[in-house]
Amino acid sequence: MQLVEKMSRIGTESAFEVLARARALEKQGRNVIHLEIGEPDFPTPPHVVEAGKQALDEGWTKYGPTPGFPEFREAIAAYVSRTRGVKVSGENVCVVPGGKPIMFFSMIALLEIGDEVIFPDPGFPIYESVIRFLGATPVPIPLVESRGFSFDLDTLRDRLSNKTKMVILVSPANPTGGVIPKEDLARMADMFRDRDIMVLSDEIYSRIWYETEPSSIASFDGMLEKTIILDGFSKTYAMTGWRMGYGVMPAWLVAAVNLLMVNSNSCTASFTQRAGIAAIEGSQDDVRRMVSEFQIRRDAFCAGLNSLPGFRCAIPQGAFYAFPNVEGTGRKSKELADAILSETGVACLSGTAFGEYGEGYLRFSIANSLEKLMEAVDRIRKLLG
Ligand SMILES: Cc1ncc(COP(=O)(O)O)c(C=O)c1O
Repeated sequence: MQLVEKMSRIGTESAFEVLARARALEKQGRNVIHLEIGEPDFPTPPHVVEAGKQALDEGWTKYGPTPGFPEFREAIAAYVSRTRGVKVSGENVCVVPGGKPIMFFSMIALLEIGDEVIFPDPGFPIYESVIRFLGATPVPIPLVESRGFSFDLDTLRDRLSNKTKMVILVSPANPTGGVIPKEDLARMADMFRDRDIMVLSDEIYSRIWYETEPSSIASFDGMLEKTIILDGFSKTYAMTGWRMGYGVMPAWLVAAVNLLMVNSNSCTASFTQRAGIAAIEGSQDDVRRMVSEFQIRRDAFCAGLNSLPGFRCAIPQGAFYAFPNVEGTGRKSKELADAILSETGVACLSGTAFGEYGEGYLRFSIANSLEKLMEAVDRIRKLLG
């Protein structure tokens, strides 16, 4: 039996492969510092865990409505309306198991073979994977380090064609930590407004920012009906394993995503949605504490990276990644990342795990203690000699 042809076009996330290699080294007794995985090293806030436990005790253990519980969808709509300065209702919200299904479902619902999709490179690898899987045409646009890892807007304009069906934006970004400036979003909105395209705006890191609050393209005139906002609980509330995310989109697309949910998941787990209500409506102190801690680590770790020979690290404005330029070491990214793991026991990712324009960079997650982060810098310094 052979797998279908399109399975040869689906990709993966190499963070999980590096994690497996790092775990194998640990089994051999090596001490590994894990800076490869994009997962907050904080626990889920206790009041959220409590709400989940209580929901189990109260019997929220059955199927729920496919798009999510109405009160949860309303709470999400109120939150998104407030934080993005838009007016959406529960009817615009799809609750799904994580942020990823919003990518997958919205692309399945919108992309025909040959449609072009513009996306950031380096970028989250699942974008290109799903585009290729569906037979659409990937149109990567390089992110420019000197522009805080945003697109060059002239390049973006040049790549828009009458086949462009979707543009993927991510801000704050994985893997670069870049935040798209509001002025750039305004100019992009001007480019997109009169075109028949949808923007998939990946805002999973919307709450993890440092100096300037990120804006959403949805908040610009005429863009709400052209935008799918992807957000969720994995990063903001350190809930990666609960599997809960959502999309906010026009009602006609909600109906399509619902059909895909009925056909695949039926619904998102009921008790986790009760915990989600507690997360959105309860105290945000834990979120604030986590972001302040990330900021302290960011400052110290990036200063450490900048002191390494051949490294140049822009200060990330959001998310929890450092993305240093390592061209000055004279080594290829993948080869350097492999050497750093095998020779120093520091697990990080090659920039090329995020696309061809990631060559020359490494990605480090700062979701580890300050002490471990600084030890990682010391170990890499010894390797570089
Ligand atoms: C940019 C980006 N979008 C989406 C996701 C997926 O989030 P989830 O775990 O909620 O599916 C991630 C996770 O790493 C991410 O980095």
